[in-house]
Amino acid sequence: MALSEKTKPPRHIAIIMDGNGRWAKQRGLPRTAGHAAGAEAFRRIANYCRTLGVEYLTVYAFSTENWKRSADEVAGIMKLLRRYLEEALRDMEKNRVRFCFFGDLSKLSPDLQELCCRARKQSEDYDVQVNFCLNYGGRDEIVQAARRFAQDVADGKRRSEELTEELLSTYLYSADVPDPELIIRPSGEKRTSNFLLWQSAYSEYVFMNVLWPDFSPADLDEAIEEYHRRNRRFGGV
Ligand code: FPP
Repeated sequence: MALSEKTKPPRHIAIIMDGNGRWAKQRGLPRTAGHAAGAEAFRRIANYCRTLGVEYLTVYAFSTENWKRSADEVAGIMKLLRRYLEEALRDMEKNRVRFCFFGDLSKLSPDLQELCCRARKQSEDYDVQVNFCLNYGGRDEIVQAARRFAQDVADGKRRSEELTEELLSTYLYSADVPDPELIIRPSGEKRTSNFLLWQSAYSEYVFMNVLWPDFSPADLDEAIEEYHRRNRRFGGV
């Protein structure tokens, strides 16, 4: 049976995977154990999104501010990402997920950059897209885009008067990706934390109290139901 507009999931869901540290603390475990459980939650939710027919899933895996954390914690997160991407490359044929990366990857270790690059290239023909935000910041993304546009003007490829919202969008990491209709932040925090600042102009935010490692398909269903209860007007009446 075709899903009606009232129950159909949004095309693009974005998630701030928050609460890993508190989840670990509640169990007397190191923060890295919380991130490992967070990576499991990501696998679970990415699979569920595919089952639902979500076309784009964007996750905040590491922000431009996360470098302030201890070297151990940063290394732990990078190790989980490395493990995940190795696994994804192995199972690529089975999962058929297209990988995309938003962020300044040049600050990541060369081996991780190489894994990202291989995952992106080897998956470009698949159609369910996962966007990993790695060393990502919404302000940084806009600055990088402005810089690249300015360079094109300096090179004579563009004129400054040409700049429109649509044109600027093509300089963002998310060029070609529709804006997320729904952004979910679990863990009880109610902030945007520099996530998808440009793309979230008309997104519906759903804040939930569950910690990310506990996030289940039923929680995603609940967020989608809440999204359908919202009256999206895009500035109209
Ligand atoms: C925020 O929780 C989470 C992060 C900064 C890292 C997210 C990373 C992962 C889920 C692992 C990445 C791996 C894959 C494969 C997706 P927090 O540590 O700020 O939690 P807290 O607010 O409770 O301290």
